[in-house]
Amino acid sequence: MTTVLETEGLTKEFGRLVAVDGVSVAVDSGEITSIIGPNGAGKTTFYNLLAGQLEPTDGDVHIKPRDGDELVTATGMPPHEINRLGLSRAFQINNVFEGLSVIDNVRIARISREGRTLDVRSLARTDRELTESAREILELTDLQDVADEECASLSHGDVRKVEIAVALGTDPSVVLLDEPTAGMNPTETDRMVELVRELNSSTDTTFVLTEHDMDVVLGISDRILVLDGGKLIARGPPDDVMADERVQEAYLGGEVGDGATTEDRTAGGGEA
Ligand SMILES: Nc1ncnc2c1ncn2[C@@H]1O[C@H](COP(=O)(O)OP(=O)(O)OP(=O)(O)O)[C@@H](O)[C@H]1O
Ligand SMILES: [Mg+2]
Repeated sequence: MTTVLETEGLTKEFGRLVAVDGVSVAVDSGEITSIIGPNGAGKTTFYNLLAGQLEPTDGDVHIKPRDGDELVTATGMPPHEINRLGLSRAFQINNVFEGLSVIDNVRIARISREGRTLDVRSLARTDRELTESAREILELTDLQDVADEECASLSHGDVRKVEIAVALGTDPSVVLLDEPTAGMNPTETDRMVELVRELNSSTDTTFVLTEHDMDVVLGISDRILVLDGGKLIARGPPDDVMADERVQEAYLGGEVGDGATTEDRTAGGGEA
């Protein structure tokens, strides 16, 4: 197993609040990792530190560059440089240009990945390549049928898929998803879980997701990380983590196995 992403004592303070508190984790290549924890546990802040939206107060982020063998220190790099290393974050909605078609959104992601200037000589070839590679991504994400639709007219479930397609457009080795099933109906949720699984196995992309729906977490994860009050309180395969007493107390209020439904446990837990 190769480590593609690693944090070392990662810490973010907002004034006196320690939102992320000395978190050290390693994410292995090709795995699906879920980050869980109650509201305010620090999950989104942790993402912001990984992807360069925030600078840590302390600690480091290491990323294995897409074309390299050694981890490099990405701490303090701006988002576009971190993206170039191979870490891509699927944002909700604001990452998608609503007035553009699905395929144009992915073409734009491809252009930013290449960082190329479109000189006249290579323009035609470039355009053809862009379109072909964008179509491949649309096929992977099951969006080929809506390729030419304007994003504003898509269903919620399809928009979430476009976010992932855009994230994949930069050929990432690691994709961060923040609550990919938030606001989805059960059918859309099942399809999203299926899709992430398929992408994980067909593209050897490593996925990290935050998720409040425990059925999704248990159904999709190779590994689970549990944050509580900014601290990493447990990590491991799903069975081990769910059996952990600290997790049951801190996160689930000791409800595991007592008949509480997922709805009970996630009530008020969504970001949507
Ligand atoms: N920019 C900020 N300034 C001050 N405090 C912040 C800021 N961002 C987050 N926080 C605080 O940091 C803590 C962690 O918040 P964060 O959004 O990371 O939690 P979360 O685990 O993503 O929660 P949720 O499950 O509700 O999405 C919270 O107490 C939050 O109020
Ligand atoms: Mg959050």
